[in-house]
Amino acid sequence: MDVLQAIRERRSCRRFLPDPIGEETLRQMLEAAAWAPSPLNSQPWEFVVVTNAAKKAEQRSAAEACHQWALKESGWKWLSGYRMDFLTEAPAIIAVVGDPKKTGVDMFQQEGTVAYQHACAAAIQNLMLAGHALGVATLWFTFFDKPAVREILEVSAEKTPLALVCAGKAAEAVADVPRKDVHAKTRYI
Ligand SMILES: Cc1cc2nc3c(=O)[nH]c(=O)nc-3n(C[C@H](O)[C@H](O)[C@H](O)COP(=O)(O)O)c2cc1C
Repeated sequence: MDVLQAIRERRSCRRFLPDPIGEETLRQMLEAAAWAPSPLNSQPWEFVVVTNAAKKAEQRSAAEACHQWALKESGWKWLSGYRMDFLTEAPAIIAVVGDPKKTGVDMFQQEGTVAYQHACAAAIQNLMLAGHALGVATLWFTFFDKPAVREILEVSAEKTPLALVCAGKAAEAVADVPRKDVHAKTRYI
């Protein structure tokens, strides 16, 4: 699939069928993630592929606890209707964990130590676009407490869980989410 087509067509999926993702497909998605750019080619990512039902259920409970907390903290009413069934429905959750020590020169800058997150974000996007090209729908999920996810996935305190990418076959078609006119957000000097 053409890269521009994949970029345009990929949508966040929140309803999954239980069919597992094939090993080769998963391998290709992870390979695509690893070809993302990173500061000094530090490749600050690690991936934890969760297919174990009990582990997925733990992730969901932790996310639901975070949801309850966010509801109270934000007062956002729309949040009460947000369900996270996809955390147990998706056949695989690919956790993307970043290493802040592999951030490059920005560790010496005033608002630094963010480049490793940018690199992981590029890896996540690659993972998702590759997934789309291979018939795997995905969701970039971040609504969780980092300490809780560290504990569930046995990630050390020095590393940062940045995203849980839910992946599998879409249970339904996902409509386009509109975008603002990019030209209104662009300046030429
Ligand atoms: C950094 C980041 C964090 C996100 N976190 C969540 C999340 O926690 N839960 C969720 O349902 N979607 C999450 N999303 C998905 C966005 O809601 C989605 O990309 C956006 O609404 C546009 O829809 P589309 O991906 O279908 O184009 C996240 C996306 C990004 C890039």
